[in-house]
Amino acid sequence: MGEAEIAVASGTSGRSIRTVTLNTGEFRVVAVPCGADFAVVLSQNMAPQERVLKKLGAVMLLFGLAGVIGAAAAGWAVARNGLRPVRRLTRNVERIARTEDLQPLPVEGDDEIARLATAFNDMLVAVSASRDRQRRLVVDAGHELRTPLTSLRTNLDLLLQADASGGLGDAARHELLDDVRAQIEEMSTLVGDLVELARDEPLRAVVEQVDLAEVVDRAVVRARRRGAELTFEVDTEPWWVTGESASLERAVTNLLDNAVKWSPPGGTVRIRLNHGTLTVDDEGPGIAPADREHVFDRFYRSEESRSMPGSGLGLSIVRQVIERHAGNVRVDESEDGGTRMVMQVPGAPLVAG
Ligand SMILES: Nc1ncnc2c1ncn2[C@@H]1O[C@H](COP(=O)(O)OP(=O)(O)OP(=O)(O)O)[C@@H](O)[C@H]1O
Ligand SMILES: [Mg+2]
Repeated sequence: MGEAEIAVASGTSGRSIRTVTLNTGEFRVVAVPCGADFAVVLSQNMAPQERVLKKLGAVMLLFGLAGVIGAAAAGWAVARNGLRPVRRLTRNVERIARTEDLQPLPVEGDDEIARLATAFNDMLVAVSASRDRQRRLVVDAGHELRTPLTSLRTNLDLLLQADASGGLGDAARHELLDDVRAQIEEMSTLVGDLVELARDEPLRAVVEQVDLAEVVDRAVVRARRRGAELTFEVDTEPWWVTGESASLERAVTNLLDNAVKWSPPGGTVRIRLNHGTLTVDDEGPGIAPADREHVFDRFYRSEESRSMPGSGLGLSIVRQVIERHAGNVRVDESEDGGTRMVMQVPGAPLVAG
């Protein structure tokens, strides 16, 4: 008992609570007044509480550590699962970059990653369309360049032969050289057109009022150079269409080139433009009914024509151009058993507006 407890018993202090350290340990000592000159003093050993507190501290430390480790593991798992679609997307995009195989990416769910994959797919469609356009352009360009080159070579062969066998008359020689110059000019224009086409992607078409009769006339001039020994009967009347003059001329030229190619020597090619219907007749072997629906496919060539030069692209270009002008083209039989190509393009006999 100390002074503090005596002070409570004597009434000078209301109550006392203190910790006393003895050899046997720490004790909590409480003194409360109990009537005059008395005080009740209670004392408790602190050791059991200390033990409980220590245990509690250890338990809390353990739980705290477990909580931190658990939270870290959960965070890692969530991040890993959340990033898995991103990794898959990255792998797929890397595959496309490596293989240049523009297969669409798989789209799963409807979250942000799925939207990203959809956006990638849209981009792939645009890239693949542009690649197709380029490929088509290169192939078509090859086709366009081959025909004038062939006739150029024929003319030069003619000149060489004539020189070897004593020479041509001055007039004939001039005519042939003029032809050669015109063909070279035609090639230069073609190369220019192609470069223009390649630069302006997607194609920027110049749409205007075009007289199909004029287009046909220009194409006939070109075709005459390739079929000098053939007769061309031309009967046209004005037909105004809204479209691209250069590609229409390319289409008509392809029809005439075929007629020239398959005409027998000295044959006649009849060209008629009547109220928007252009017919090109030749006296060649004609196209078998079974082949008629296929000749407009790219690279299609009938069995009999495989020995002739050509790539099977001419008519597919014709169909593509004519369909772009809301028209149609088909194969028929001419009066003398040859081929008749029939092409119709909507328009009017008088210039619109
Ligand atoms: N006037 C024709 N007479 C007979 N067969 C024809 C005629 N026009 C087209 N064909 C047939 O249709 C096929 C396709 O014609 P197309 O013009 O597309 O190709 P091509 O003339 O063989 O080659 P390219 O025009 O590319 O040089 C020809 O291979 C030929 O079998
Ligand atoms: Mg052809």
